[in-house]
Amino acid sequence: MADAVAWFLAECLAEDPSLVLGLPTGRTPIPMYRALVKLHRQGRADLSRATTFNLDEFVGLPARHPGSYHAFMRKYLFKHVNLDPSRTHLPHGDAPSPVAEARRYDAEIAAAGGLDIAILGIGANGHIGFNEPDRSLPAGTNVVTLKAASRAGNAAAFGGEVSRVPTRAISMGVGTILSARHVLLIATGAGKASIIAQALQGPVTTRVPASLLQLHPRAAVVLDRAAAARLTE
Ligand code: GLP
Repeated sequence: MADAVAWFLAECLAEDPSLVLGLPTGRTPIPMYRALVKLHRQGRADLSRATTFNLDEFVGLPARHPGSYHAFMRKYLFKHVNLDPSRTHLPHGDAPSPVAEARRYDAEIAAAGGLDIAILGIGANGHIGFNEPDRSLPAGTNVVTLKAASRAGNAAAFGGEVSRVPTRAISMGVGTILSARHVLLIATGAGKASIIAQALQGPVTTRVPASLLQLHPRAAVVLDRAAAARLTE
């Protein structure tokens, strides 16, 4: 999965060096970032003119906090490749008004011309970004309250203590994600098999936010065998 996506991105960047990418965090994309860094070191992936927008950030955390997604991105991608720091974007978790920050982030994405490729992981409950299952989902970047399961899934970066994981995040909205010209969903491992089957072959419902990707005209899904195990022919 990691190599396939990294090669795909390198090829897209070769065709259009000024791509605008939507980038995920989580365990799933780590091997993909490693593969992309490797291609970059081999001179096969040039990110010097690319722009990136991350999907989300925890409310209350400054960029320097080790549990922040800013820190994650520095660790796994930014410090290893030739992205221009002025063209890498994440919501500011410590902004005085998270709501205003969410609006500012959408304006920033719009000013960049929208996302060319949104790369997404999927939460065990079907969340994309941090858009949690609900009766309705917001279109634009917004402040979301995290479900207990999502906080637990992020505890590793907070010394394993769920209570230290922030309760809210600023997340790109589902509308922003669906407005990307291409969407690439990635998932690995048996733990994602059930939600992948629901998202790809179940009904389109805000109760499984990733199922909304079924509506996207140019969405691709890259899975390992374990994550694909419950898909029917
Ligand atoms: C995280 C992120 C999501 C990510 C998901 C799955 O908390 N906010 O963007 O896709 O949860 O994470 P993992 O790849 O670790 O399973």
